[in-house]
Parts: sequence; structure tokens; C-alpha cells
Amino acid sequence: MTDNQENTDAEDASPSGSPTLPLRPPCDRLPCHKSSVCSRSYFVVVMVFFHVYIINVLALLFYVHYSSGQEDASSSSDAPTGGGQPQRSEARRPSPSKPDFVRDVSLTRIEGIRVGHVQKVSLVPGRVHEMKTLSLKPLLFEIPGFLSEDECRVVMQLAQLKGLMESQLMVQEGQEELAKELDLSPEEIFNLLDINQDGQLQLHEILTHSRVRDGIWLTPENLREIYDGLKADKDGDGLLSQEEFRLLSSDAFQRFLLERGVKRSQLVRNSRHTWLYQGKGAHRVLQEIKERVTRLTRLPAALVDLSEPLQVVRYEEGGHYHAHHDSGPVYPETACTHTRLAANTSTPFETSCRYITVLFYLNSVDGGGETAFPVADNRTYDEVSLIQNDVDLMDTRRNCDKSNLRVKPTKGMAVFWYNYLSDGRGWVGEQDEYALHGGCVVTRGTKWVANKWINVDPDYQRQARYQQLVSQLPDDENDDDLPSNADVQNPSIHQDL
Ligand code: OGA
Ligand code: CA
Ligand code: CA
Ligand code: FE2
Repeated sequence: MTDNQENTDAEDASPSGSPTLPLRPPCDRLPCHKSSVCSRSYFVVVMVFFHVYIINVLALLFYVHYSSGQEDASSSSDAPTGGGQPQRSEARRPSPSKPDFVRDVSLTRIEGIRVGHVQKVSLVPGRVHEMKTLSLKPLLFEIPGFLSEDECRVVMQLAQLKGLMESQLMVQEGQEELAKELDLSPEEIFNLLDINQDGQLQLHEILTHSRVRDGIWLTPENLREIYDGLKADKDGDGLLSQEEFRLLSSDAFQRFLLERGVKRSQLVRNSRHTWLYQGKGAHRVLQEIKERVTRLTRLPAALVDLSEPLQVVRYEEGGHYHAHHDSGPVYPETACTHTRLAANTSTPFETSCRYITVLFYLNSVDGGGETAFPVADNRTYDEVSLIQNDVDLMDTRRNCDKSNLRVKPTKGMAVFWYNYLSDGRGWVGEQDEYALHGGCVVTRGTKWVANKWINVDPDYQRQARYQQLVSQLPDDENDDDLPSNADVQNPSIHQDL
């Protein structure tokens, strides 16, 4: 301890008082023994510090309160007069030929308050629904009885009438062609796979790759079997070194899997689905569901109208959907599928920009089939720890019981959540990583669900331009039941998700 420190310590201060504190209160009336503690200037200094501290804390609280309040206010009632540019507009100035839209719309975000909070909502005349907050990260709600029994039946029957297709096709061919065309060396491929660039391929680096690229859901044990079969991991440390990788032929994994055969249960997703349009001319029930979703989410009707059609999904016994995000992250170079044509630019990344997912349970499942949110309301999100020591939290065939939150399918119930955070100015912000979810394996019976996604471009200008373009189409082309969403023109993109 230094001398200085001793001086500031009241217990150790000498009774004669420190030379820096010459004014001392009369100590004779006070039962004090250490003169420096009782000195008036000491008291004044302490009080000044105390007040400055309190004032700082109060100022900070006021700042936080008012700055968030203003963000909300500027993005809600009053139309911004110039300050309402969307996020990242600096980086992507529209060309002069494109109109620059003043932001006059903001997106309502329903408040969760706290987990378990119940709010009453008016969705259909003469009836009040209860909406319960299930988690704050992601912002997730459930609404029992959102659909009537009859509505559930009609949606399932319409889907059956239209016919459902496999949600995921078996192993895609042609990937090797691409690699050959690019003429990549084993070193270059190794570097692409080595996400953390430590010169070794960990199990999860290979697993992630095969899930994303081939849609095959290998478990750590599967991978070890493959390593054994191919004698790939020579030193048996569970990692593939650059040398070990070089000795494998470029399509060794693929060939091994094809020879052994891939079962449906080993795919990322094992279900069938179809799409039902909800615009003019669609079945009354489908139109009403769309209107109810608009009331539920409190978003502009035009946004809901221009979103993807209703997706109806059926899982047979043994069906599942491993944990995934309904929509990907957005970088400055990311285009949204639904506004891409209007944006008229070519970009390296594309995602479906599903701001909200509304998931409806069309039947109550006899066994399993819960919707799991593995990291809901976790204190932190760490992608790497999702797969650890053979426990893969994203695996909904094995580890749903370890998910932070599970929703049991109940006929007519709807759950909905936000896949993106707010940008703090009334528009769409970053992807919410906590929105990771999946469908647990159905252990008994069949499971029917429907998804209503609400597509919003995080770039306000692009969303506005898209809406303007669609509204300029001749009326018969502008019908809601026409494929206004790019997804519809390219249904295969759903298989990528
Ligand atoms: C989906 C999905 C969950 C479930 O279809 O995107 O996540 O419980 N479904 O079926
Ligand atoms: Ca690595
Ligand atoms: Ca090794
Ligand atoms: Fe999903």
C-alpha cells in the first residue's frame, strides 16, 4: 500500500490531521477519535462527490429514457421531415433516377412486458383473445384459439386438395461440378471449411458444412463412423488436419454417404408442404386469416398483403425440422428475395427477410412435435456452444428436452415471433439470433402446421420502391392472388432455409 492510499484511509489517518485538511470541526462535542474524518472539508468533499455521483446517475437515466422515447416517437405518429432515413442509407445511396422515399410508415412492435404477461387482443368481432408472452429473446407470443376448429379443417383440406410436396429433396447432385469448374485445390477447400482458421477441421465445422450445403443432418457419431470408414482421421484425435484432408478425394464424403444411403430422418427437414394464396378470390377462410394476422401484428395491411402466401406443412410420424432461422442475417450486400427485382441490383447474398413468423397449429399432436426454441431467453448467444461434447442443441430428434422453451402443438393456437430486432427507429434491424427454432420429432400421429411470414426489407427505400412498383401494375396483375412475392416465382428457395 502506498502512503497516499494510507492517507485516504480514515482509520489510518493520524489524529493530528492531514496537512491537506486544515479545517477541522470542533471534535469535543462529537464522540470522534480520528480528526480527519470529522474535518469539515473532508465532509464537504465527500458530499460534493456524492452529489455529483447522484446527478450523473440521474442524468444517465434521463438520457436513456428520452433517447429511446424519441426514437419511438420519431418513428411513429409524426412523419419525419428528413431525419427519417433508414439505417445504412449512407452506404447505399440510391441512384438519382430512383425516388427517395421519406419514411412515413413505422412498424409497430408489440411489447412483451415480461414472460407470462397476458394481454387481451381484439381480433374478431365479438370476441377477445388472450396473448401471452412466452419469451423476450426472441419476442414470442402465443394466442390460444386463434383459429376455430372449422378453420383448421378447411386449411388442411385445401392443402390436401392442392397437394403437398416434399419439403426437402434428397442429396443434391451437381455440387462437385461447381468445385471442378472453380478448379479448387484441396488446400483452398480446406481453408473454406476451416471457419475458425486454426488449421484443423473440427467436427462442428464439417457438420455445419454438410447441413448447409447438402441438407444432410449428420450427428457427431455419424461423422466418426465416416472417418473410420474412410480411414480419414489417421491420428485419431477427432480432427482433420490439412494433411489428413489432402489424402481424401474431393467427393469422398459424398460417395460414402451415397453408398450407405441417406434416410429421410437424416435430412435437415422431413415434412411435406404446399402454399395457399390468400388474396382476392381465395377461400374466405384464407382471406380472413390474413386479415386477422394484420390485426394481430398491427402492421400496415399492404405489408401483410404483399407477403408470402400461407405455407401449410404436414409431418408424418417420425417427421421433424431441425433448428433453423426462418430468415437470415442482413449485411449491406444482402438482398431480400421479395424486393430483389425492384431493387434492380445484383448482390452476393439473398435472404427471405421474414420479419415475423406466425405459426398456426392445425391439429393437436398425439406425441412429440413441439416447436422448440433452444436458446430462448438465454443470457448469451454463442453459436459454437450449440454443438458441444456430442450434445447438439439444434438436433430436434434428440435434444428437444434440452431446449430452453418448447411449445406443445394445440389445435387452433397461434404463436408468433420477430426474427429481427428493431433498428430503434421503427423499422427492421439486425437478425435476432435467439429466434432459432425447430420442430421436434413427431413420435405419434401426424402434425399439421401453417406458417404466415411477413416480409419486410430492412432497407426502407427498397421496401418502399417495391411497394410503389407493385401498386403501379395494372389492376388485374396487381391482384393479391398473383405471385407478388418473388418466393412464389422461385419456390425452390424455401428448400434452402
Ligand atoms: C417451420 C418451422 C416449426 C414446427 O416450418 O419453419 O419452424 O413446429 N416449423 O413445425
Ligand atoms: Ca478449424
Ligand atoms: Ca486427425
Ligand atoms: Fe421455422
